[in-house]
Amino acid sequence: MPQAELLPEVTKFIESPKMVIGGKSVDAVSRDMFDVIDPATGRVLCEVPRGGVADIDVAVGAARQAHEERRWAGLRPGKRTEVLYKLGELVKRNISELAQLESIDSGKPVSIASGEMWAVGEVFRYYSGWPTKVFGETTPTDDNMFVYSLREPIGVCGGIIPWNFPMIMAAWKVAPALAFGNTIVLKPAEQTPLTAIRLGELCLEAGVPEGVVNVVTGFGQEAGQALAQHPDVDKIAFTGSTEVGRKVLHASEGNLKRVTLELGGKSPNIVFSDANMKRATRGSMHGVFLNSGQVCTAGTRILVEKSVHDDFVSALLDATASMKLGNPLEEETQMGPVISQEQMERVTGYIEIGRSEGAEVAVGGERASELGDGYFVQPTVFTGVRNDMRIAQEEIFGPVAAVIEVADVDEAIAVANDTIYGLAAAVWTSDVSKAHKVARGIKAGTVWVNTAGNVDPSVSFGGYKQSGFGRELGRHSLETYTQTKSVWVNLR
Ligand code: NAI
Ligand code: MG
Repeated sequence: MPQAELLPEVTKFIESPKMVIGGKSVDAVSRDMFDVIDPATGRVLCEVPRGGVADIDVAVGAARQAHEERRWAGLRPGKRTEVLYKLGELVKRNISELAQLESIDSGKPVSIASGEMWAVGEVFRYYSGWPTKVFGETTPTDDNMFVYSLREPIGVCGGIIPWNFPMIMAAWKVAPALAFGNTIVLKPAEQTPLTAIRLGELCLEAGVPEGVVNVVTGFGQEAGQALAQHPDVDKIAFTGSTEVGRKVLHASEGNLKRVTLELGGKSPNIVFSDANMKRATRGSMHGVFLNSGQVCTAGTRILVEKSVHDDFVSALLDATASMKLGNPLEEETQMGPVISQEQMERVTGYIEIGRSEGAEVAVGGERASELGDGYFVQPTVFTGVRNDMRIAQEEIFGPVAAVIEVADVDEAIAVANDTIYGLAAAVWTSDVSKAHKVARGIKAGTVWVNTAGNVDPSVSFGGYKQSGFGRELGRHSLETYTQTKSVWVNLR
């Protein structure tokens, strides 16, 4: 596939991207490197340092020192606001560069990556408002006592993030950690280390003191595991697979670090017969195929009320077949490749499983090999799916939708909840009572009504059941990134 022109800043950056530790750009202690692959071509883009146990140790040491010296938490809150706001501005000023970098690293269409970078800027802007709004309280007890609370940072945080929304995930960890006065070590996914490094650099440019934000690139079982286990890390915020979430929880046992987990999903997208069919079709399609289906909240189980099943499916198939798959660097591309060879094999493996379980491939179902050596998979819709099939129960994380017929509202809620996950759900209906009834009945951290996929820095995000625990964004991160201290003063 022909490569669209790269921006000079991007070409220059990928010449030698390095980790950011203690305010410096550094190689791994071992000097080892690993390859970064462009998923659209399967070719090596560049190398980055292969951080491991030793590098995590150095980075945690830098973050600890910055914390103990109060280099960041000790600044005037208004100053921290200024720096975070500037960081958001810097991200927004560099949208084209960052979007292209994200696109070649992750395979996502550049048009979508641009929107994501704008959203990253918004996350920093939102959190820039928080440093001046963190209060303790005074509590009446005994008349001879003066009791008050201090709300303090937790200390050194670790952020372990996935490859599907690399820069957004980085912002979701770094922005609240900073807003509430913590320091952080960020470990991006090995598939997508580039924008995290760039964010580490932009933090310094915005005026975040050295050692406050550190970025260690490396593999999950090496750098990730070391960070989750590290006795001097006070908190881990993890986003990724449920399987690794369990490992992170175990690894945190040693020093009982605080843990928040944002894990997988198998979200229902329910279409009732009274829905606006045009909107429901478009919304369901984007809800499952956005980012090649590599979205934790993807509406992969499309539950359709029997009376409109056939009409809805035929509209969904038409819309799906018209999606433009191709070079992520071209503006008109709607869907790029999946992230890696491994992921492509996993996704096509699930398509085979679906076939052998007796579901029908109504559209797609193959690797899109006409697009060259990149990891392209056709957007695929299965019909005739039962909710107990593996393709309806397991997170595929690729462009694969499973359409399940349901009889009515009660069955829709029951099937929607028949999963180990509970991250999100979408409901399409024009009946207000039905919408609220279903929203209340569904066990998930987010429910969208006549819309899908929305997130905003001010709205809390997280899972029910095995989709994890803890909430990110909004005022909820005040709870997860601070701790309170009660101070008793004897007045006698
Ligand atoms: P993963 O869960 O292995 O990777 C997420 C992050 O965890 C990466 O930074 C990785 O380096 C790190 N990690 C891996 N093993 C670790 C360990 N033992 N200790 C600490 N950190 C560790 O996800 P992976 O393997 O890339 O994808 C596999 C499947 O996971 C996908 O097919 C998808 O189903 C699911 N997934 C879900 C995501 C979500 O947002 N819900 C995001 C990424 C993957
Ligand atoms: Mg893994």
